[in-house]
Amino acid sequence: MSLSLRKTTEWMSFALCNHKQVGAFFEPLIQSYLPGWTVNGFRAQIKDIGRESGSVVSLTLRPDQSWQGFQAGQYINLTVEINGAKLTRCFSISSSPETYRMTGTVRLTIREQDQGVVTPWLATGLKKGGYVSLSAACGEFVVQRNGVPKVFIAAGVGITPILSMLSDLVDQGESKPVKLLYYGSDHLFRSELSALESAKSNFSFDFLNTRESGYFDRETVQRLLEQYAPEQFEKPDYYICGPGEMITSVEQILKDSGVSPERIHFEFFGVPRALDVQVSESGQASRAVAFSQTQAEVSVEPGDRRTLLEIAEGAGLNPVHGCRAGVCHQCSCRKLGGRVQNILTGQVSDGGAELVQLCISQPVDDVELAL
Ligand code: FES
Repeated sequence: MSLSLRKTTEWMSFALCNHKQVGAFFEPLIQSYLPGWTVNGFRAQIKDIGRESGSVVSLTLRPDQSWQGFQAGQYINLTVEINGAKLTRCFSISSSPETYRMTGTVRLTIREQDQGVVTPWLATGLKKGGYVSLSAACGEFVVQRNGVPKVFIAAGVGITPILSMLSDLVDQGESKPVKLLYYGSDHLFRSELSALESAKSNFSFDFLNTRESGYFDRETVQRLLEQYAPEQFEKPDYYICGPGEMITSVEQILKDSGVSPERIHFEFFGVPRALDVQVSESGQASRAVAFSQTQAEVSVEPGDRRTLLEIAEGAGLNPVHGCRAGVCHQCSCRKLGGRVQNILTGQVSDGGAELVQLCISQPVDDVELAL
């Protein structure tokens, strides 16, 4: 379809039924008879819902046959309907590609967020045999097949994509040394991980207890790496997954120890920690966030640590988003002017136009967004 024809079709669909595709308007009705049908993306049937620990659940899904599979370490965007609203969040796959090939199923493992809307609902709101919508697999946190040793560092539910990667390495007959440092107060999938370790003599896993080792300050991480990543792991690749502060500490320590950035792979997990916004150079007491398309404007007072996504939602807007954690990029939006701070890295942008991720950006100056 040519671009102009597609645009015209989209415009007519919007004018007639407030959707880019007419099929999307009829989707809820059709799905009440054919729950596996969708106009966009993919549908998956829920095969199992299980609890891994007090606050962690796993969903086993069978995606429809048009779904293309995944690489170990990737995630999907899952869309569910709660009280009539479609809500999308991204979740990592904890099962292996081989399991998908053998059974046609994938397992998502999810920690319930205290303040969350979607994650606490999943275990009770979904039923076996029901259907959810999902995206193709996405993400670049995947194992590099480069024949070097690998050190995996996981914390808490950050083990999820790493479990998939380790299973895949076992399935692929990895011959180089593989080390796992798994840090947490309770260790998910302990028996599954132990079975993987037993399957390969070159695999060695350590389960480290947060209560004994303390949290992820620089000294703790430094000690862990010295203690648990010995010389046999000459020039390994590092794969890190966990909370933002743990990743930041580990990454910095590795770089300070001379590890080249190409060897460090990571994925932030959970809701990122908001940093205190830097004081504006102009000394403004408050900042204004303006939304050019809706003509809305919000004043952000000093001490307000909301992200641009939260500010937009507070103003009654409904920007597209997924993970709310800086992973899926669904919330990317054009900033027309003003500086923002990335709450994962602390980096402050310049004042020019660029794409920003709303869920991990806070305004430093007056900011204008194309929303
Ligand atoms: S919502 Fe996923 S990166 Fe912002």
